[in-house]
Amino acid sequence: MTQTIATARACSNIAFIKYWGNRDSALRLPANGSISMNLDSLQTVTTVRFDTALLTDRLILDGREQSGEVLMRVSRHLDHIRALAGVQTRALVISRNNFPTGAGIASSASAFSALTVAACAALGLRLNERQLSALARLGSGSACRSVPGGFVEWHAGRDHDSSYAQSITPPEHWALVDLVAIVSSAHKAVGSTGGHALAPTSPLQAARVADAPRRLNLCREAIRERNFEQLANVIEQDALMMHAVMMTSSPALIYWLPATLRIMQAVQQWRQAGLLAAFTIDAGPNVHVIAPAEFRTVLSERLRQIEGVDEVLEAVPGGPACLLNEHLSAD
Ligand code: DP6
Repeated sequence: MTQTIATARACSNIAFIKYWGNRDSALRLPANGSISMNLDSLQTVTTVRFDTALLTDRLILDGREQSGEVLMRVSRHLDHIRALAGVQTRALVISRNNFPTGAGIASSASAFSALTVAACAALGLRLNERQLSALARLGSGSACRSVPGGFVEWHAGRDHDSSYAQSITPPEHWALVDLVAIVSSAHKAVGSTGGHALAPTSPLQAARVADAPRRLNLCREAIRERNFEQLANVIEQDALMMHAVMMTSSPALIYWLPATLRIMQAVQQWRQAGLLAAFTIDAGPNVHVIAPAEFRTVLSERLRQIEGVDEVLEAVPGGPACLLNEHLSAD
């Protein structure tokens, strides 16, 4: 029996310019490029132990043994990495999120980023950041953006090797905060993977994709120049364009709840009154309020007062995925 083991940590990320729809869903080649910020306090730590004594892959997520589609998705991802290393050894994967599971916070980005980095290290594959990012993308598109650190751009690319993410600036470049207003922790009816497949059914998707280079340029420039007003305008417009596509897909995907809209309207009023903040929303009802860090306390208090807000999580720009020396145990 031989065993090899490695552990990695990766941050979740929030997209400023969204990934919605694939040109190639098997390879997760996106319809458009995207830009995100890593979230330092929303992390996944994953230990991967390849063991010749195992007959199947196993996955223990937040202390619970997984089966079915969740395990299959991890197993399929490990298959890509095993193929690269030329081995067939099965693995025990132990993974923990440090954010409340079921809080409605997407974990596939941090999960597949940490899984990729740990599994490659455990098999002795020496890949660079770009290769790791492209590989993580096969597990979950947004995971490619959690491999590099800070503010990150995913180049849509034309094929597997050219579709990867890289840092625009490191995390310390801009002291922003993401206040995640949780309005529902219910499991969503249609997750991202199913949603991407519906994007082309909206007549608005082609216009959203055609305009993406303009939004990407504005967002990249706003980050480089720390121009919050420009960032606020472009990320709100981008999120609304994605939700317009979702709402006009067949079947329609309507993720917002009444509290979602209450927060969006409050954020716009606050900004007009000089309290800098901007909203963005992923495939769910929770609202990410992005703001300069100095507004953190006042915004967090105000968000908690809005009817329907259960809790507010806070994160600042996070670093790249990295290997750790200590391993998780199964119990
Ligand atoms: C709305 O990366 O979760 O959060 O590739 O199917 O795992 P899969 O999709 P995923 O999609 C993220 C969609 C989004 C926007 C974004 O993060 O860019």
